Amino acid sequence: MNIHGTPTRTIRPLPEQSGVEIIDQTLLPHRLQFRILHSLEDAAEAISVMRVRGAPLIGATAAYGVALALTEDASESRLDDACARLLATRPTAVNLRWALERMQARLAPLPAEQRCDAAWTEAAAVCDEDVLLNQAIGRHGMELIRRRYQQSSRSVNVMTHCNAGWLATVDWGTALAPVYSAFEAGIPLHVWVSETRPRNQGAALTAWELAQHGVPHTVIADNAAGHLMQHGQVDLVIVGADRAAANGDIANKIGTYLKALAAHDNGVPFYAAVPGPTIDWRMADGSGIPIEQRAASEVTHLQGQAEDGQVMSVRLTPALSGAANPAFDVTPARLVSGLITERGICPATREGLGQLYPEADAGRSA
Ligand code: MRU
Repeated sequence: MNIHGTPTRTIRPLPEQSGVEIIDQTLLPHRLQFRILHSLEDAAEAISVMRVRGAPLIGATAAYGVALALTEDASESRLDDACARLLATRPTAVNLRWALERMQARLAPLPAEQRCDAAWTEAAAVCDEDVLLNQAIGRHGMELIRRRYQQSSRSVNVMTHCNAGWLATVDWGTALAPVYSAFEAGIPLHVWVSETRPRNQGAALTAWELAQHGVPHTVIADNAAGHLMQHGQVDLVIVGADRAAANGDIANKIGTYLKALAAHDNGVPFYAAVPGPTIDWRMADGSGIPIEQRAASEVTHLQGQAEDGQVMSVRLTPALSGAANPAFDVTPARLVSGLITERGICPATREGLGQLYPEADAGRSA
């Protein structure tokens, strides 16, 4: 995607294995600041405090975190420790486990002297493949937008939640890939961006990247989504996922479930964009997906920019009130019209996923 008109990835290795450059997403939309990760601990910290976030980018950062760790010490115990440290950063996005298991499977059998180079190569492959998966999701998902445009001959209103765009991946995004593809194809569209309390990934990140790319969009309070659907102002909802269970249940940012309920009640198609690494074949349904509980301060405080340009945090709630912060919810498959994957669009069912991924489904049954 473009930043100031220049195609840019969200993560990239620096020359000579000297570090990994990321965008510090905690500073957006007010400041675009790149940051260098020099060590395993830098990578783990960046994932935990959400300098990088979004399931695919968490996986990509973890892969580079392993490479950074092995640059210091390429022993097998260091590999194990690095994977354990990174796995403990955030529990819900299964891309994290997927990337670490991939790194471990590739690197553990190698002699120590080959591990470091192989780790950097494998992390780069994880990133390159992510871009290809997302482009394919974009091509398939764009057809949903195109079909709607052909039916109505007016600009298509897509609603999304949180940020499952370019910033959540290495490039393109998952839920926003169909939007970018349709935009590039000249299909008139507009995106409703729900702010996504408490961390406001919609208002801060999705709005920012759509604006950078010139895609028409409007930010709404989360609570406005049902009203807009009732009044025919939403043609299609597309969200991302942190983990899809084998039966098509999806875990995504808190508030996704409410959007799915409202969409169901109003006959609005509700799709989740799910690349292969986000499918957890070991999870029969969504009931066992671990839901991250984040700090109460993310609910009690808001970050924003004052009139003088200063970025500051302000308290929103009474000092004596407690706050709870479940970061994800599970949307049952029955509320999901379909899953947009890199292999095509399928029903949110075990059979639907199994037809697209016969090899994984067979492995699960074995
Ligand atoms: O807490 P976050 O910002 O990491 O949550 C991100 C989401 O919920 C995204 O929708 C999901 O990871 C899919 S990203 C392509």
